[in-house]
Amino acid sequence: MNLEAVARAEAKLLLPTYDRKRVLFRRGQGCYLWDDCGRRYLDWLSGIGVCALGYNHPAILAAIRQQAPRLLHISNLFYHDYQSALAERLTKLSGLERAFFCNSGSEAIEGSIKLARAYARLHAKNGSKAAWRILAMENSFHGRTAGALAATATKKYREPFEPLLPGVRFVKFNSVADLEKKFDGSVCAVLLEPVQGEGGINPVTPEFFAAARRLADKRGALLVADEIQCGLGRTGDYFAFQKFGVTPDVLALAKPLASGLPLGAILTREHVAAAMKPGLHGTTFGGGPLACAVAIAFLDTLRREKVLSNVRRVGKYFREKLDALKPKHPSVAEARGIGLMLALQLNVPGKDVVEAALAHGLVINCTHDTVLRFLPPFIITEKQVDEGVKLLDQALSEAESKVKPQPAAVAKKL
Ligand SMILES: Cc1ncc(COP(=O)(O)O)c(C=O)c1O
Repeated sequence: MNLEAVARAEAKLLLPTYDRKRVLFRRGQGCYLWDDCGRRYLDWLSGIGVCALGYNHPAILAAIRQQAPRLLHISNLFYHDYQSALAERLTKLSGLERAFFCNSGSEAIEGSIKLARAYARLHAKNGSKAAWRILAMENSFHGRTAGALAATATKKYREPFEPLLPGVRFVKFNSVADLEKKFDGSVCAVLLEPVQGEGGINPVTPEFFAAARRLADKRGALLVADEIQCGLGRTGDYFAFQKFGVTPDVLALAKPLASGLPLGAILTREHVAAAMKPGLHGTTFGGGPLACAVAIAFLDTLRREKVLSNVRRVGKYFREKLDALKPKHPSVAEARGIGLMLALQLNVPGKDVVEAALAHGLVINCTHDTVLRFLPPFIITEKQVDEGVKLLDQALSEAESKVKPQPAAVAKKL
């Protein structure tokens, strides 16, 4: 089927949850994708932060080829070879001590919320009500399942489904005063993304992260870091929290972990894990042998091929190139981000730039209406940054010739 036929069939058969771009991708190699007409695209999105080793990486293919004929699924009622091997790597890298495997980011958040509530119950003083409240951040995104959505601030995602899980309160991101004001004895966990992703690539401040740690310790609550988008190497360290010298009690991971196969993880400390017992939480598919074997290959490849030093070096270069676009384009307010989690804040909606970039063969995405988000594969080269920046430059100019920047932005520019 060609693009038109697929789009027609989907329009008739699928729930209309996505407004897809009109491209039918057929294959990928490294940092490039090809559509059904054989057109090549440079990928600066990696399937929303998933394909960190690009497409068709030999180590990932080898792990799939080795494991697929042996055992795809066995359920969590039995042992297989890879969960403990993967947990060993993740705990060593993070300094945390226990792991639970699931299928997605949202599911890792669901499990983290349940873990926080179970931990609070275990530690409730005799006769007193267990702490239950989750402090989440304004501008946060934690997923689309009911619990994760309750901790997601963006109104357009949550309001159509209210009432959601009770007990979530939002704190102004990076406001220590607001956090202090709301962090009372009812709080069992504070949940934050060290670098907000969907919210527009906003890093936490070291002061705020440290305050969250300090207040969680003072109240006996848990600090939960959602590193589903910013973790596992995206910022140039294995985990974003490692940049801040603050270790969370619970860490939620997913996206790149199994390089395109669905796999999420919750990592935690020994004393927190003690709140769980058989039957309290589970999943049929989570942590299956194929996904775990691939995740092991992913982590081993990051180490063997020194991929994170590429993220740091090329990330810095990329950021400089984005900074250089600002004086050239009235629609660009600023560049920001860490490692290969980068963004251009526009002062106009970004939709037209995304369309124009795609037409020129560059895959990017727009989040929060006005933020162009770049999550390229970790293996991207400086040359591919140059190639993409040229296309982006062109796309910005084309969109600017169509869209008039808002008066405030024009005034600032003049
Ligand atoms: C920070 C963060 N948390 C949670 C999620 C939800 O993950 P998933 O879409 O795998 O359920 C996402 C997805 O974009 C995310 O970026």
